[in-house]
Amino acid sequence: MASTKGMKIGILTAGGDCPGLNAAIRGIGKTAALKYGMEVYGFSSGFLGLVNDEYKKLSVRDMSGILTVGGTILGTSREKPFKKSDYNKYIRSKPEQIKENVEKLGLDCVVCIGGNGTMKTANKLQQHGISVVGVPKTIDNDIWGTDRTFGFDSAVNIATEAIDRIHTTANSHKRIMVVEVMGHDAGWLTLYSGVAGGGDVILIPEIPYEREVLKEYILKRYDEGKPYSIVVVAEGIEVPPKKSGVKRNKSAGNYISEIIQKDTGLETRPTILGYIQRGGSPSPADRILASELGSYTAQMISEGKFGQMAASKNGKIVPVPLNDVAGRLKVVPGDLPLINQARALDTCFGARL
Ligand code: F6P
Repeated sequence: MASTKGMKIGILTAGGDCPGLNAAIRGIGKTAALKYGMEVYGFSSGFLGLVNDEYKKLSVRDMSGILTVGGTILGTSREKPFKKSDYNKYIRSKPEQIKENVEKLGLDCVVCIGGNGTMKTANKLQQHGISVVGVPKTIDNDIWGTDRTFGFDSAVNIATEAIDRIHTTANSHKRIMVVEVMGHDAGWLTLYSGVAGGGDVILIPEIPYEREVLKEYILKRYDEGKPYSIVVVAEGIEVPPKKSGVKRNKSAGNYISEIIQKDTGLETRPTILGYIQRGGSPSPADRILASELGSYTAQMISEGKFGQMAASKNGKIVPVPLNDVAGRLKVVPGDLPLINQARALDTCFGARL
């Protein structure tokens, strides 16, 4: 193996934050510095830091004590340097600015920790002649090529606890409680927290629901002496205004709550969990996954495995080409065993079988 001593790496966190980002920064940076003798630089606010040349050299001390801390010490943004509309506004394009900054600092690799958008941008940077490694994170668990993303387990725990709490108040008031869960266009977080929290109805974007099925199911429960129901709804399910091309002005949770109350006549209340799902300390499982991915990322750099994403597959951490990951979404497959198992427990997915 060629000497890695003195190699320089940059790290950035981009897109929505999630628990485990600091654990990943620590895993990458400490391994890079302590095992491989590399210099580590942290760029601020995602790709914005790369464009604007805003970075800080990270010492091992800077990366200590952050394993359990939520958010990201580097900050993040949704900056997309390859976005066409921004392209002509600058004398030098943003990708050119990035290239110049990376060369000026003499970076051997830029580690991009992020979700789907970040992996897309990382792939473009690689094609632009900048060596990158991707590290997948998101509470949505929707990145193609990896079984799990860190952030997901923590968010499942938070959403499940919220559903548990909503259960007791639903029971006291004999109400229908609708809980909206994040996840963008994928239903992983809703499915897992819905099953873990014993949701009676679980609606995810991957399974189109019928209003009539919801009504029948909730009224059947009522007739059976169960006057309250918990309906766990993914933020990304289709609500009619979206279908009609009209700008959607209601959240999925509010919409479902409204139609249930209208159709069943039962008192219904919505709860939008929102950003609480992304905040706070990572779960032990996420700390472990982020640390494993981080440490492996430093190893990938030492072996010159660029243009790839560190992924978790069948319990192992492996490299996956960014070219394969970019532009793809990992949604919940309709034949996922968990869905059938939940159906066997009389959980309703809003569709007729
Ligand atoms: O991708 C993570 C996520 O939390 C999604 O679940 C959610 O739709 C989105 O980010 C919210 O993003 P923003 O921070 O831009 O409001």
